[in-house]
Amino acid sequence: MAGWQEKALALYKEGHSKASIGRLLQREMGAATAENARDRVRRYLKKQSVSPETAKPESPRKFEALENLTPRRHVMDWGGERVIRFGLMGDTQINSKYTQLTHLHRFYDICAQLGIDRVFHTGDIDDGEQMRPGHQYECYEQGADDHVEEIVRVYPQREGITTYFITGNHDASLYKRAGMDLGKAIADKRPDMVYLGRDCAVVKLTDKCTLELRHPWDGTAYALSYKPQKIIEAMEADSKPNILAIGHYHKIEYLFYRNVHCFQTGCFQSQTPFTRGKGISVHMGGWIVEILVGEDGAIKEIMPTLIPFYAAKENDWKNWRGFNP
Ligand SMILES: [Fe+2]
Ligand SMILES: [Fe+2]
Repeated sequence: MAGWQEKALALYKEGHSKASIGRLLQREMGAATAENARDRVRRYLKKQSVSPETAKPESPRKFEALENLTPRRHVMDWGGERVIRFGLMGDTQINSKYTQLTHLHRFYDICAQLGIDRVFHTGDIDDGEQMRPGHQYECYEQGADDHVEEIVRVYPQREGITTYFITGNHDASLYKRAGMDLGKAIADKRPDMVYLGRDCAVVKLTDKCTLELRHPWDGTAYALSYKPQKIIEAMEADSKPNILAIGHYHKIEYLFYRNVHCFQTGCFQSQTPFTRGKGISVHMGGWIVEILVGEDGAIKEIMPTLIPFYAAKENDWKNWRGFNP
């Protein structure tokens, strides 16, 4: 191998560009111009089949957490009952100074009075960490451990009620930063809270009735029903659930579309500087859903009851500082 080729290969492996190698070796190569030298270097390296990837030492890839779109399936015990009742809610955003814990506890009180034994939470149980510049000033606790401790302490616990929950994009901020699955950490400490997975889950309520929980990660739309419609339109006919519960948009809605009973599950957080600044309205509250199923378990009737909360309590988190369950 002639001298300049060997040097060119070594320089390329060190990370020099072809143009800079051309300039360095122009005289040795006897090339008239730097461009001419660069072209000869390029032709030579092409024949050696080295690429910057093989030439340079590999740098570690940045970890990127993405929305999980593959739901895990969970089968619930169905003893053949004809009437099934459950709560549907989400976006409690605990650890945010705008969380509405008093309304949240009231919702669980109503569920307990009605003898509801299961409540499904559609994600964003926590407000997360550093969602955007300045977000940390909207949170009254900092750090993953303290966020988990606070949720374990203040999340409603009622005899006979089990909360089944997924996590959302705010919960995923801890996953993104530290690889910590907040849902698991909460469920480990609260036997009445069952973690169903990140961002989505499919629950089989009866043999013929599925409930899908979803927490999308995208932005809100101007029209209330636009996002749910698009989500349902994207579903293949044979993978559609019978009931779809969507969190994240902090909106309340019931929609029947393509034979799917779709609920937007509302939230338990008042407006924040972020939503106010963007002119996004929020709907506080949750649903109690009663379904009447046939012998085979298919829905014959559905009766959604909305539990709305109209006025937010300012600094409501402070009212729960001394709370000790
Ligand atoms: Fe949310
Ligand atoms: Fe969200």
